[in-house]
Amino acid sequence: MTLLDGISLSQAIRGELASEVDQRTAAGLRIPHLAAVLVGEDGASLTYVSAKVKACEQVGFRSTLLQFPESISEMELLLEVQRLNEDPEVDGYIVQLPLPEHIRDEMILLAIDPAKDVDGFHPENVGRMALGLDAFLPATPMGILTMLSRYKVETQGKHAVVVGRSSIVGLPMAILLQRNADPGNCTVTITHSRTRNLAELCRNADILIAAAGKPGFITADMVKEGAVVVDVGITRVPDVTRKTGFRIAGDVDFDEVSPKCSFITPVPGGVGPMTIVSLLSNTLLAVRRSGR
Ligand code: GUN
Repeated sequence: MTLLDGISLSQAIRGELASEVDQRTAAGLRIPHLAAVLVGEDGASLTYVSAKVKACEQVGFRSTLLQFPESISEMELLLEVQRLNEDPEVDGYIVQLPLPEHIRDEMILLAIDPAKDVDGFHPENVGRMALGLDAFLPATPMGILTMLSRYKVETQGKHAVVVGRSSIVGLPMAILLQRNADPGNCTVTITHSRTRNLAELCRNADILIAAAGKPGFITADMVKEGAVVVDVGITRVPDVTRKTGFRIAGDVDFDEVSPKCSFITPVPGGVGPMTIVSLLSNTLLAVRRSGR
């Protein structure tokens, strides 16, 4: 069994990004600038956004965190998005999800300039991705593809089963794995809460992507001997032995599943760091494309 180590791989890619920043600086080109919008006080969202901003600093990017109270109206947030679209100093930005209930995600995502949409959530980028055209790819599926590629995990002709159909992870992951590309060319099954024979489908997977958000959901009896297992789960579960009062749990029962795998990602330290580094790569792509 080989551990797909997102920490060391993301560090290597961060090193590559940092040297690109140095080269750009030496050539008198712009340093990439990522902005992140956070609405409300959700602890997990604040942790993720802070990690993204910190990662920018580590590779020499500029970053700006824009925090708004939970009470901000949809119209006010749309105006902030408009401001970011028009700000020539910002190369790319993200609006951290979920947003409060009174704000419609799709209204905000539709307002983001697709050229600055480094999360790849705007319908134009989703459509371009689906058609195999140049697009910003959503950071989590992109990070997983990078991981499969750098660890030379064979995907061609394999059966990939994606558990979960969210627009952030499951759906784009399925689209990307079936593309005529490398990594890609998988035969893909998407499963969700209404899927009838889930365990049997999972047992058929050469590559199993667990993105259901249910701790320990994937057990050993659901995994084929020699499978590649990618765990996207990052649920906070109460744990009184930790200072924070919680621990991060994946969707996969790692102890029981890992002995059966050819490759497996740990949680934490697997997909999470790859998501962040993919966002940085997209921000560099945004500044390159803008010609600024
Ligand atoms: N919420 C959970 N994952 C993500 C992500 O990748 N981007 C944004 N903007 N919000 C998220």
